[in-house]
Amino acid sequence: MNKEAKTNYDIHPVLKQRWSPRAFAEKQVELEKIHRLFEAARWAPSNNNLQPWRFLIGFKGDETHNKIVSVLTEANAEWADKAPVLILVVGKKVNHKGDPNKLFSFDLAQATANMAFQATVDGINVRQITGLIPRKAFEVFAIHDLYGAVCTLAVGYPGDPDTLPNPLKKQEKAERTRNPIEDVVYTVKFGQKANIF
Ligand SMILES: Cc1cc2nc3c(=O)[nH]c(=O)nc-3n(C[C@H](O)[C@H](O)[C@H](O)COP(=O)(O)O)c2cc1C
Repeated sequence: MNKEAKTNYDIHPVLKQRWSPRAFAEKQVELEKIHRLFEAARWAPSNNNLQPWRFLIGFKGDETHNKIVSVLTEANAEWADKAPVLILVVGKKVNHKGDPNKLFSFDLAQATANMAFQATVDGINVRQITGLIPRKAFEVFAIHDLYGAVCTLAVGYPGDPDTLPNPLKKQEKAERTRNPIEDVVYTVKFGQKANIF
């Protein structure tokens, strides 16, 4: 299945090729690829270099994988339980002085984006999932209250879309779409198109 982005301008192949599957192959992900995912996250930028990200990793069939599935919304658990690797992304909500770090989830997003791109380089895929029940994640993993449970990553080799229930099957096979660039790039005042494209 070709899910490569149809771009108007030439961008790096990794940016074109990254996409978020829901169907995953049963094949386990090699540990060296998992190591590189976390190394990629580690080198993400963050405000004041606070690096607020923490991760809980589960492999299909183990206790942590089952626990992560249990904190997802029903619609996400339905497909994510088949992902060979699930990673719960948790962020520290305070800085070194104990003051609120309002940008912690922005920083986490930088780390998860790095992971998604490194995955693409390594021929695996990541789907980010914010459809989870944070209260449940706090209970199940005994997360400290200075942290926030933000997101889960489903990681693996892409699988057969026909294994998904409808309408997910149709969505998986659909072409990836984006808003036109000219609708989102402004100049002089908000909403005034830049007319550079
Ligand atoms: C912050 C964030 C939250 C997301 N949450 C979910 C989710 O809860 N369930 C889901 O199936 N996909 C989720 N996604 C995946 C998006 O739906 C997907 O990235 C988007 O449709 C674009 O598709 P692409 O990544 O293949 O380009 C999320 C993605 C991001 C970045």
